[in-house]
Amino acid sequence: MATVYVNDKAVDIGDERLNCIQAAERAGVTIPHYCWHAALSVVASCRMCLVEVGERKVDEKGQVAIAMQPKVVPGCQTPVKDGMVIRTADAKAKDAQERTLESILLNHPLDCPVCDKAGECLLQDFSFQFGKAESRMVDEKNTPPNKPDLGPNVGLFTDRCIMCSRCVRFTREVSGTAELHVVNRGSHSEIDVFEGHPLANKLATNVVDLCPVGALSSKDFLYSQRVWNLKTVNSVCSGCSTGCSILVDSNKDIVYRLRPRFNPRAQGHFMCDEGRLGYHHVNDSARLGQYLVRGEQGTKAVEWAQAAGLCREKLAAEASKDPGRVWFVFSPSMTVEEAWLLANFAQKLSPFVKLVMGPVGVVGEDDTYPKDRKGRPVQPVKFTIRAEKAANLRGVQGILNHFQKDRATYQQFLAAAKSGQVDACLIAAGQSPQVYKPSVEEGDALSAVRFVAVQQMFSSPLTDRAHLVIPASAFSEIEGTLVNHAGLAQATKAACAPSRGLRTDGQFFLELLERKGLVHAANLRKEIAKAVPAFKPLEVGDLGEYGVFCEKLKEQS
Ligand code: SF4
Ligand code: SF4
Ligand code: FES
Repeated sequence: MATVYVNDKAVDIGDERLNCIQAAERAGVTIPHYCWHAALSVVASCRMCLVEVGERKVDEKGQVAIAMQPKVVPGCQTPVKDGMVIRTADAKAKDAQERTLESILLNHPLDCPVCDKAGECLLQDFSFQFGKAESRMVDEKNTPPNKPDLGPNVGLFTDRCIMCSRCVRFTREVSGTAELHVVNRGSHSEIDVFEGHPLANKLATNVVDLCPVGALSSKDFLYSQRVWNLKTVNSVCSGCSTGCSILVDSNKDIVYRLRPRFNPRAQGHFMCDEGRLGYHHVNDSARLGQYLVRGEQGTKAVEWAQAAGLCREKLAAEASKDPGRVWFVFSPSMTVEEAWLLANFAQKLSPFVKLVMGPVGVVGEDDTYPKDRKGRPVQPVKFTIRAEKAANLRGVQGILNHFQKDRATYQQFLAAAKSGQVDACLIAAGQSPQVYKPSVEEGDALSAVRFVAVQQMFSSPLTDRAHLVIPASAFSEIEGTLVNHAGLAQATKAACAPSRGLRTDGQFFLELLERKGLVHAANLRKEIAKAVPAFKPLEVGDLGEYGVFCEKLKEQS
């Protein structure tokens, strides 16, 4: 067991290979740093992490002697070993930190009042914690022009750049597309793209998260909110079955930004731009906002409880005649809890009603990174955008398999509906329009069905045919569990409330079941874990930051 002493505090690091920044973190000590990032190579160029290091030795008589090195060293580039002493707050280290910050700030503009990064900027934070209160700069600052179009999603405030090179290394080491580089030398160095090669790779906006200051900005988020007004919750991207862990930033029930959340069990540090920008439909005013009943006398809006009552009544009436002609279509994007509640309702009507997995969007092939300059994949793979555009296919499959092993496909359901073998159906929970858009043919197939209930976010050929239209929840409004391609079950939390008068999908299903109370994901997980062996790992209720693996769900795919 190796022990390292950080500011005289002993930390056991086992046999892990750590640098001084990481070892200090274990001791609860922050070593300020800019250029170092756990997912990138080490360049030790910013010099912000300078610390004093030495060695602690105990002689035969038990006397402890500490021999410190004469000069400060970059903590990011210095691996720790047993008996190593790190000092971050003594005079030498403090002096180095202050001088480094003073040098970094020489050309940095006083943009904080208008900068998007203010409030989450490492230059602000470290200047406050480790810097000097005054600047000795008397010369005019270097003010190179901004580059608002580095790529379709990213712009550069050139004068705010502190030349840490994280962004350059990301495009070389993670996306592999190498669009960014440094032009000019010394204090005139600037980040730029190569002529005719904009920063347009599918992972491009990660450089905005990596940038420790406000130099690289997301065009989507620019000037839309001050970050201290945002409420942040942990969630999971529903863009594909990679299931990236994300943060949802919202204010007053409007989502403004998605950011990757580090998860070593899921995708690591990053997310793709498609997933990152795939939230706009949540705020779209065209979303369905009323429960609608359509009959011979036209269409009328009803209260949510009335809609649930009607849905229950109609499906029960048809199931009592011939349950084999009543179908439930599950969405591969709904949560495990929603699928559980709906499947329980279906079973309550009759074990002979039919359960079907809804359409699963597949776009091309899995897209892996890094790539080489010709766009060919390079090993080892550091990030994958999956072709399967379903957030919870394995989780919903796990629930359906528990109740009905032999199931028809969605295409068979449409064919059955078309040939008059379906009396009633509930097409549940919908999917985001980025992931799946129902076709006119799908709508036409339902024309002979006596009762059609459709739960979706937007009007579509399916809702046009529905006798009951149920507005569906967006990913940002629900709490529950999503299981990714690898069987990793992660918790997603609600960032926003549904629109006035609406209830979440899970709440609607609870009402169908005539179960009292609110959807409580942790309790439902325990209930599911008890009933369905494949979900046993969910018995913990709280899945933590990183989620838990349900190996059996992976195997079933
Ligand atoms: S733009 Fe940001 S990430 Fe890139 S070198 Fe400058 S400070 Fe670093
Ligand atoms: S890879 Fe998939 S899950 Fe991850 S951010 Fe992109 S779309 Fe979302
Ligand atoms: S973080 Fe160590 S030199 Fe930049």
